[in-house]
Amino acid sequence: EDLELSGYEHYMLKEIHEQPDAAAMVLRGRLDERFATARLDGLGLDPRELRSFRRIKILGCGSAYYVGQLGAQLIEDLARIPADAEAASEFRYRQPIIESDTLYVAVSQSGETADTAFAVEEIKRKGGRVIGVVNVVGSTIARTVDGGIYLHAGPEISVASTKALTNMALSFALLALHLGRLHDLSHADGQRILRGLQRIPEQIREILEDADPIAAVAEDIAKAQSAFYIGRVRGFPVAREGAQKLKEISYIHAEAYQTSELKHGPLALIDPHMPTVALIPEDELTDRNLAAAEQILARKGPLIAITHAGVDLAHLDARTIVVPKNEPELDPILLTIPTQLLAYHAAVRLGHDVDKPRNLAKSVTVE
Ligand code: AGP
Repeated sequence: EDLELSGYEHYMLKEIHEQPDAAAMVLRGRLDERFATARLDGLGLDPRELRSFRRIKILGCGSAYYVGQLGAQLIEDLARIPADAEAASEFRYRQPIIESDTLYVAVSQSGETADTAFAVEEIKRKGGRVIGVVNVVGSTIARTVDGGIYLHAGPEISVASTKALTNMALSFALLALHLGRLHDLSHADGQRILRGLQRIPEQIREILEDADPIAAVAEDIAKAQSAFYIGRVRGFPVAREGAQKLKEISYIHAEAYQTSELKHGPLALIDPHMPTVALIPEDELTDRNLAAAEQILARKGPLIAITHAGVDLAHLDARTIVVPKNEPELDPILLTIPTQLLAYHAAVRLGHDVDKPRNLAKSVTVE
């Protein structure tokens, strides 16, 4: 029954709507209230080993790589361990230095992506420790890694990944919380993140229940030849993923930029035909994000802001999509949901085969 459309027009829409339940599944049994941490029994590493890692390197392809960037940010924020993400497809070819005090994390929905699987092999061959963040149980990557976190997102049919990506982000939040509590994250901050995680499934549901304005905005995007997605720091991986999703299924060219980089070049492209989807969360960078929004509007660029109720956009001629507020570290997970719907509705509007976009496969099992 899981594999049926259950009344939805496309698998992608069905999978978008499965996210509240899928998110609850990845969190289930993993939140330890007493010690304000995450219980991750599958990691296969004891606390002393986990504490010994000086760096975390996340490897994945496409959208999984972008979520990996968010994961690295979460780990740096909560655990204060230097972390970064890299495209697994490039890793093997640049003679990577495999360090014994680095924990490698391979992230993949299918667990069969050849580029990611090869990166895992390369790390293992050189004696590195690698864990997986994987959806498909018993898949190649899941079998090769030393341990890991299963996503429990259920089967994902649509080529454009949605619920698996949300559960990847939640898995990284769990890993970051777990590592944080092994290092210097206080009990109070652990509780703050834990409570934030508990709110996520319901907050995703709220976004999905009030999605009509997002479909209306998608009508405008569908008319464009090209679009920008911009965000800063934690918002940048959201922008990258938003642009990726639009490209994949609507075939509209989209480019993601750090909002701060706009004035260093791409601002030249802003005109009335180039819409910009701007991530403007309520955080320490709100004012800077608003200043960039003003620059876009001054050049007559149509602006779509994905934002929080606490951000005052009344003075700007922007279309707004408001999402519920969570903790700053977790907000990107919720900010991503409207970008899925923007891409979906734009693609439907243009009459494309949403679940099977041209030239793409669900899992890329060749190099
Ligand atoms: C996501 O919408 C894409 N279809 C694609 O980028 C995908 O995330 C990538 O190919 C990695 O797949 P995996 O998670 O199965 O490894």
